[in-house]
Amino acid sequence: MTDRSRNGHGKLEVVRASVQQLPVVANLLELYAHDFSEFHDVKPGEDGRFGYKNLALYWSDAGRHPFLVRLGGVLAGLVLVKQGSEVSGNPHAWDLAEFFVLRGFRRHGIGTRIAMDVWRKLPGLWEVRVMQKNDPACQFWRHAVSAFAGNSASCSHFEKNGERWLLFSFETSRPLAAVIPPIG
Ligand SMILES: CC(C)(COP(=O)(O)OP(=O)(O)OC[C@H]1O[C@@H](n2cnc3c(N)ncnc32)[C@H](O)[C@@H]1OP(=O)(O)O)[C@@H](O)C(=O)NCCC(=O)NCCS
Repeated sequence: MTDRSRNGHGKLEVVRASVQQLPVVANLLELYAHDFSEFHDVKPGEDGRFGYKNLALYWSDAGRHPFLVRLGGVLAGLVLVKQGSEVSGNPHAWDLAEFFVLRGFRRHGIGTRIAMDVWRKLPGLWEVRVMQKNDPACQFWRHAVSAFAGNSASCSHFEKNGERWLLFSFETSRPLAAVIPPIG
């Protein structure tokens, strides 16, 4: 896509996906998995789909939050968030499970804006995990996390199932309106 102005305009909306939109999320996850298949060993089944295990949990489990992203009304990406660290075991930490911007919208600052929106929506301890071999995503998260949390964010390394990961952690505070008790 060369029309940068198309991506620069229009309202960015990060909205919770309804259960009726589960198939929409599943379709976008196919594109996401295809991107991942370039550097990670994921293969489609005989139906030509990669599939996504336990996707329905995002609508039945209170600690999970599925978001769809629209830019100027057009689907531009998705975010799946779940509560519970995959690294330390902290049951309260927010884990950014999946994060995807459609190719035509990339490199316009959209991913950064989406991430910041989601971090503000769900205050608390955040953990962002990224496979080191996903180099573009490592660069993206370094940029987005430091733009959002500055020096307060930490970056560490861990290994799981022979895979090397980067882990960014930081806290987001509760919006003022939520902590000030109502008057009267
Ligand atoms: C990673 C991803 C979310 C980035 O989305 P995006 O909307 O293009 O990101 P932004 O435009 O906000 O990028 C901000 C900065 O991050 C860095 N960055 C983003 N994509 C990059 C890339 N492919 N290569 C190098 N640096 C990159 C750059 O510093 C960029 O600023 P610049 O464009 O001014 O140089 C998107 O490429 C994507 O969905 N990839 C496939 C799925 C994925 O890997 N998700 C992350 C899983 S952990």
